[in-house]
Amino acid sequence: MSTSISRSQQFCLLGTGWITGFCMCFLYIRHTTKDCPPQIVHPCSVPAKPLSVSNDTLPDKPIMLVWVWPETDDYKFDPVKCKERYNIDGCHLTDNRDLYSQADAVLFYHKGIKKDLSNLPQTPRPPFQKWIWFNLESPTNTRPKSGLENLFNLTLTYRRDSDISVRYYLNVSKIPKEFEIPEKDKLVCWFVSNTNPGTGTGTRMKFYEELRTYVNVNVFGKMAGKRLTDEEYYPTMASCKFYLSFENSIHRDYMTEKFNGPLSIGTVPIVLGPPRDNYEQFAPHNSFIHVADFPSASALAQHLLVLDKDDAAYRRYFEWRKYVTATPHYAVWNEEFILPICRACDYVSRHNEYKETHDLFKWYSS
Ligand SMILES: *[C@@H]1O[C@H](CO)[C@@H](O)[C@H](O)[C@H]1NC(C)=O
Ligand SMILES: *[C@@H]1O[C@H](CO)[C@@H](O)[C@H](O)[C@H]1NC(C)=O
Ligand SMILES: *[C@@H]1O[C@H](CO)[C@@H](O)[C@H](O)[C@H]1NC(C)=O
Repeated sequence: MSTSISRSQQFCLLGTGWITGFCMCFLYIRHTTKDCPPQIVHPCSVPAKPLSVSNDTLPDKPIMLVWVWPETDDYKFDPVKCKERYNIDGCHLTDNRDLYSQADAVLFYHKGIKKDLSNLPQTPRPPFQKWIWFNLESPTNTRPKSGLENLFNLTLTYRRDSDISVRYYLNVSKIPKEFEIPEKDKLVCWFVSNTNPGTGTGTRMKFYEELRTYVNVNVFGKMAGKRLTDEEYYPTMASCKFYLSFENSIHRDYMTEKFNGPLSIGTVPIVLGPPRDNYEQFAPHNSFIHVADFPSASALAQHLLVLDKDDAAYRRYFEWRKYVTATPHYAVWNEEFILPICRACDYVSRHNEYKETHDLFKWYSS
């Protein structure tokens, strides 16, 4: 074993003998990762294209092609942002469809796929290529499209059991930190634009309507005719003791930036979404209030009014911050897809496993 490893390593280092070296080089890399120079990973997994070192025509990283961008062109971004923001640099991220036949992975945004699938690639899929199903909407707001059920290799969604899961994870640190609660001049706030009951918002509207009869809720956003600019998002949220993190629809793992925003900025989220134990898989039990912790909206309101007067009790909602850190997400309206796409790029650069995804919508609605 050791002799074959050193021989394949030699091939890697010399960058020659691709045809004969391919098999062993490939095996070697799959089992170690760090020891070979990174530029050989790509040619090793795609033996048909021998690579001469630093040839611009073929990037030395896996290619991830964005075939269908999310929403409109306003959401396109410069791939260099993956490096700048998340230190992700492992793939060649492109939307140049000429690279289709060479692409290691192709990303499709679910909403952008036409119902008759006519905007999918019409040429055969290369055998090494993985198709990624990208969707950030909840199942309530995902229209199944016939023909996609068994077409993809990887899923990119908020779900934890996706191949690539897009979440805002909290980080644990060994060194205790003091957290300073921001200045507050409001009790309860809510930023809300989507009030379309067709998207599942009925539950949260009903709860809000009841809650507001017991406690004043400062509403911002389209619903209140008080839209916040991107710059006002965090300062306004920070000025509220509590924030209504009400998801538009209720599904396992579906906790969005509405939850991460207040957690990261020093405001206590009041969550309406999946059950408490699901939230506690991602955030400390004493970092948020769940609407189901109380028998009624009135009881919740009473609790909030008590906390408003009891500083020590309010501060206890921040004790977790000593050892856990929440990272603010970018609150710019057209930047919500940058992190997921960068994460997909990172995944593609680290994973070579064969994978098929079946019964896509059955899984997603489960
Ligand atoms: C890159 O590859 C192309 C063909 O694949 C070749 O024509 C060109 O000379 C190469 N450039 C360098 C700098 O090696
Ligand atoms: C949390 O961890 C992630 C990755 O593990 C890292 O990208 C991020 O910068 C960390 N955030 C903080 C505030 O340390
Ligand atoms: C990707 O999934 C498709 C559909 O299930 C399958 O035919 C193909 O072999 C898979 N390819 C890879 C590289 O995983």
